[in-house]
Amino acid sequence: MSAPSEKSLAALLDERRTFAPPEDFRRRANASDPGIYDRALRDPEAFWAAEARQLDWFTPWQKVLEWNVPWAKWFVGGKLNVAYNCVDRHAHSARRNKAAIIWEGEPGDSCVLTYGMLEREVNRFANALRSLGVAKGDRVAIYMGMVPELAIAMLACAKIGAPHSIVFGGFAAEALRERINDAKAKVVVTCDGAWRRGSIVPLKASVDEALRGTPTIQSVVVVRRIGDAAKAAMQAGRDVWWHEVTDAASDQCAAEPMDAEDMLFVLYTSGTTGKPKGIVHTSAGYLVGVSTTHRYVFDIKEEDVYWCTADIGWVTGHSYIVYGPLANGATSLMYEGTPDYPDRDRFWSVIDKYGVNIFYTAPTAIRTFMRWGTELPARHSLSSLRLLGTVGEPINPEAWIWYHDYIGRRRCPIVDTWWQTETGMILISPLPGLTATKPGSATRPLPGIVAEVVDAKGDAVGPGAGGYLVLKRPWPAMMRTIYGDPDRYVQQYWSRYPGVYFTGDGCKVDEDSYFWLLGRVDDVMNVAGHRISTYEVESALVDHSSVAEAAVIGRTHEVKGQGISAFVTLKEGVTPDDALKNELKQHVVGKIGAIARPDEIFFVSELPKTRSAKIMRRLLRDIAEGRILGDTTTLADPAVVARLKTQYQEEG
Ligand code: PRX
Repeated sequence: MSAPSEKSLAALLDERRTFAPPEDFRRRANASDPGIYDRALRDPEAFWAAEARQLDWFTPWQKVLEWNVPWAKWFVGGKLNVAYNCVDRHAHSARRNKAAIIWEGEPGDSCVLTYGMLEREVNRFANALRSLGVAKGDRVAIYMGMVPELAIAMLACAKIGAPHSIVFGGFAAEALRERINDAKAKVVVTCDGAWRRGSIVPLKASVDEALRGTPTIQSVVVVRRIGDAAKAAMQAGRDVWWHEVTDAASDQCAAEPMDAEDMLFVLYTSGTTGKPKGIVHTSAGYLVGVSTTHRYVFDIKEEDVYWCTADIGWVTGHSYIVYGPLANGATSLMYEGTPDYPDRDRFWSVIDKYGVNIFYTAPTAIRTFMRWGTELPARHSLSSLRLLGTVGEPINPEAWIWYHDYIGRRRCPIVDTWWQTETGMILISPLPGLTATKPGSATRPLPGIVAEVVDAKGDAVGPGAGGYLVLKRPWPAMMRTIYGDPDRYVQQYWSRYPGVYFTGDGCKVDEDSYFWLLGRVDDVMNVAGHRISTYEVESALVDHSSVAEAAVIGRTHEVKGQGISAFVTLKEGVTPDDALKNELKQHVVGKIGAIARPDEIFFVSELPKTRSAKIMRRLLRDIAEGRILGDTTTLADPAVVARLKTQYQEEG
């Protein structure tokens, strides 16, 4: 584990600007009483119980929390249904004809699903799943582009109590196969293809390839997004078209009463070692957590149009495109494409087209917009915006200020929200009507959350010092376990400091008790907001017949936050040339997906190792980032790293 870099600490310590919530925002904010923090701290269970009462329950809970470290049960004995709370109850209220989902397709096609329409579509697909033999508890894999059917499929799973496992559509067939097999999914829901900057991504072909080694899959449901041009081959007896199974299905479907602790979904994420971990989230606590935070952090109002630009394949999309907003009866915008297609101002035109009020995106996107220049947003009004958010990685103060000035036009508060797949919900963030913000700081833990920055021994560090971010109390949307691997759950998150959740993030707290996130302290990279482990990329590289060994590091990258550098030793007799570099990059894309493509590959004759043969990635990072080499005394052969450095400087 490496400590947060001194350079990043020093830069952040210089940041002194603060921005108070604008007065008119403060007056109307959903969270406008500063006493909320104390109340939640004094009696967290009463705080969460009050929030839980905003949901509709079939059976009330008997106990708010049962906490046998590290096993949590929230709202014990309660029964509800997540889809019922996100759709049906609104469809049977004054919100019936309110837009639940506004969908903007990449080629410019669009549609609106009201709560009433969404209820019927969810019911149809829920019945279709049942007709394919899916019962409560069966896992359903979903591998799609950003089309409305993706949200419908999730909610249909929730309606019948079948946990979904969504796999980001940018993952390669092998990554999909691995996730399907770990979850032992029964059905895959996919599209014939997806649009990506005007070209077709053949999703169904990847599913076909993945399914060559997935014994548990019985059926594949295919949404016709592209049509004949996608050339999707349908396998008789296994594959069915979405429109055919839903046309045949009834639009009435009673919601399955689910225990508070029944699994809602599993979502795979990268860990430091081994295969991706299936993060398990359950029903009631998760929904309470995401709906509460969505209401307070995004200050959602009845008339708002809210847009989170994440992909639903990641946790941000689960919690803050679908479950949080819909539980609150909000209007959630879903966009299929990329920010630069057909033009680099697509986001800004979408904001004006629909009058978006709340906009939530990632720092890597903001840094990209900065590069493209201020003229593009200046062509648009953006006057509907009232609140901006960021997520996924630390935001550098320059990007924060740019976002504030050129998108928020100095009028919109910014919520920098820290959380993880594992936490399910936002844990550290400003409350926009209460918290003065500082560019680059996620500010304070939300009400009910107890976070601390500790040193290696687990003692709290003082103001200004760096350490490890830990969480000291359970929260409703916390992960419950790793699917099929409870030991790894304990080991990974609860063993470094007994009884305390270890986040894997470096952090500092300033003299105002504000938290400044400093990035991962383990071997997890954050590339353009995507979480990728060095281990996964190394495994993909050594899988190639020419590679003997590989060490992968994330190095600072101006736009992506981190870029991927790979140091590779080749087998005897293999010629190290540029063609091979490209072949290796393509090999990684084929095994994992384009998000894991190494930015640079560096052929070396040896890797720096300790006397116990562990590769010292820390030193490779020092070399790649041009720093003075850190401590080399534990190396088996210090000359290796010296040679590497010279070679890197010559070639790099
Ligand atoms: O390192 C932190 C970073 O993203 C990690 C979690 O990644 P993932 O599970 O993919 O979830 C991303 C979206 C919630 C964290 O361990 N991270 C996330 N948000 C922030 C952040 N780092 C700094 N500031 C943030 N606001």
